Amino acid sequence: MLHPDLLLLTVAKTSKSPIAEIKIRALIARDLPAVRKLWTQTKGIEIAEGDSLPCLNGFLRRNQGTSHIAIGNGKVVGALLAGHDGRRGFLYHLAVDSTFRRAGIGHKLVDRSLAALKAKGIVRVLLLVAHDNRTGIKFWKNQGWEPLTFANPMGKNP
Ligand SMILES: CC(C)(COP(=O)(O)OP(=O)(O)OC[C@H]1O[C@@H](n2cnc3c(N)ncnc32)[C@H](O)[C@@H]1OP(=O)(O)O)[C@@H](O)C(=O)NCCC(=O)NCCS
Repeated sequence: MLHPDLLLLTVAKTSKSPIAEIKIRALIARDLPAVRKLWTQTKGIEIAEGDSLPCLNGFLRRNQGTSHIAIGNGKVVGALLAGHDGRRGFLYHLAVDSTFRRAGIGHKLVDRSLAALKAKGIVRVLLLVAHDNRTGIKFWKNQGWEPLTFANPMGKNP
């Protein structure tokens, strides 16, 4: 039986490597440059305050084992930043390389991060998705995430 952290994918667009073995594992500090590169290349991901390498390293130190990546053909093809503040969990920057989409990687990354947050006692997890990100909204709704219509997100630099 296939290990639960492995996915075997047929990737039609990559004729040179039609089969890819995808490994899902926790995101660690040395993965961050490759993960950041994936995010900067992914439409729908907005790199913002808190996304510098030092900030992301700090986030991982505070939130060990809750963020995950997918590795395929030796490179990072999917990533999700996940953590908590002791009360709520938060998911940020779910991205899957376009060649590897619609094969279950996004779901698997979310499942693994939610399980890790739950194991730390977190019972409610939030995320932001842009109003015009139709793929993203569909993806989250199909997984049972509910839009929070009673509140508007607000922000300020301290
Ligand atoms: C949103 C995103 C992360 C989804 O990643 P993904 O790996 O394609 O997600 P999954 O494959 O797990 O699920 C996507 C769809 O593929 C379907 N799927 C899963 N396995 C499949 C398979 N073997 N064959 C065909 N379809 C499959 C799922 O049912 C799902 O369908 P849906 O349209 O009903 O939701 C990806 O599209 C992405 O990176 N988008 C750009 C960044 C972005 O917008 N991120 C969200 C920010 S909030």
